[in-house]
Amino acid sequence: MPVAANGPSLARSYPLPATVVLGTQWGDEGKGKLVDLLSESIDVVARCQGGSNAGHTVVVNGVKYALHLLPTGILHPAVQAVIGNGVVVHLASLFEEVETLELQGVPNVAGRVHLSDRAHILCDYHQIADGLLEAERVAAAAGGVGGAIGTTKRGIGPCYASKMTRSNLRVGDLREFRSAQVPLRIRTALAELRLRFGAAGEAAVASYDVRAEVARCYQLARRCEPLTTDTFDYVNRVLESGQQSVLIEGANAAMLDIDFGTYPFVTSSNCTVGGCCTGLGVPARALGEVIGVVKAYTTRVGEGPFPTELYGEAGALLQRAGQEFGTTTQRPRRCGWLDTCLLRYTGRLNGLTQVCLTKLDVLGCFDTLRIGVAYRYRGKRLSSMPASLRALAECEVEFEELPGWRGVELGSVRCWSDLPAAAQAYVLRVQTLIGCPIVHVGVGAAREAIFLRS
Ligand code: GTP
Repeated sequence: MPVAANGPSLARSYPLPATVVLGTQWGDEGKGKLVDLLSESIDVVARCQGGSNAGHTVVVNGVKYALHLLPTGILHPAVQAVIGNGVVVHLASLFEEVETLELQGVPNVAGRVHLSDRAHILCDYHQIADGLLEAERVAAAAGGVGGAIGTTKRGIGPCYASKMTRSNLRVGDLREFRSAQVPLRIRTALAELRLRFGAAGEAAVASYDVRAEVARCYQLARRCEPLTTDTFDYVNRVLESGQQSVLIEGANAAMLDIDFGTYPFVTSSNCTVGGCCTGLGVPARALGEVIGVVKAYTTRVGEGPFPTELYGEAGALLQRAGQEFGTTTQRPRRCGWLDTCLLRYTGRLNGLTQVCLTKLDVLGCFDTLRIGVAYRYRGKRLSSMPASLRALAECEVEFEELPGWRGVELGSVRCWSDLPAAAQAYVLRVQTLIGCPIVHVGVGAAREAIFLRS
């Protein structure tokens, strides 16, 4: 259909499409460091999903910065930071994070945050509900039914559930604050918890002080005002202008995606590329490079099948060498060999155009390395990831073995040619097996411990 010559056109072009950084495994791949590196030359960095259950960590000059709700890009003083509509925001935690970063010397943090007026507010009662639900699952698992999900109990799942049942408060609602609305929402939510969880619910909400929570909400509403933005309009204007660059920073990872991960052992949002579009309101055509961050081995937190898992001393060795303990919860992560069947699946799901391979240094603790190259299910090689967890748990993994570089410290390597031949061979073999160029390689936690594969 022809478009009116002088009217607005939807046939927009995106001279400078957004770069996307996504986790490709079960999270904790080291996305923070790549985002930090790329943010040096980026104008706007945006979070599009998840909440404070994600925990990017960046080490700059020996100082550790832990980010939970704010995009990692905020560490660069010229970057504007967007918290998109797809994020669920615990406001008190957000302001705490802002203050901590400012105390650590990051300039003008609050002045650079653009908080979507469409983002959903995560309240303390969502966290209570999270704990009650997990306790219920643990009890059921003890009776042989289902299993605990291993949530962070940060309230993320219950907040997304409230969003979907259309009963939640959004950041923009605080602007049109009517005194009766917030207490009513809180009282209704508490009544629902009592009804749903009986005595356990009653006990959990007994000390909940509605008045104090309402007073906090008023205070937070005032603090939120200067940050609240129509981020849909803001991000799209930036993209359409072609004058400034945008980076979309994924949290969590593809195998934790609510639709494509190992359901139900997943998080409650889409942490794959589609979540960038819905969580910011940007069209698919506005996305450019989609960079997958791949840890050189595999880890996962919590329950659920893990085909290449290492048990006993070998697993514990990886855990210690990689310091595989959660940023947010300090929970130890389960560890295993790199799984390229999984990576082919998540690469396809996200349309990855390049990969950043992190934590290669950690593999220096083994004489021989193994890589999972195929899944066999009841004697047949699978061409994709099964949806059924029972089938996935039954899969046998075919491994390839490669020589390691034990004893060679990679932490100070700053270019591809300085990597030992065995480490280069490992990276190149992974690249062939996943069918995607490995562009960056990470060899340490420090900001500078990452280089381009030439
Ligand atoms: P989620 O969003 O929670 O999934 O985490 P993430 O992917 O952002 O992981 P994060 O950036 O927190 O990195 C996990 C840990 O790995 C942090 O402690 C980093 O400092 C560390 N790290 C990142 N890259 C490397 C690397 O190449 N080598 C080593 N040894 N550590 C690294």
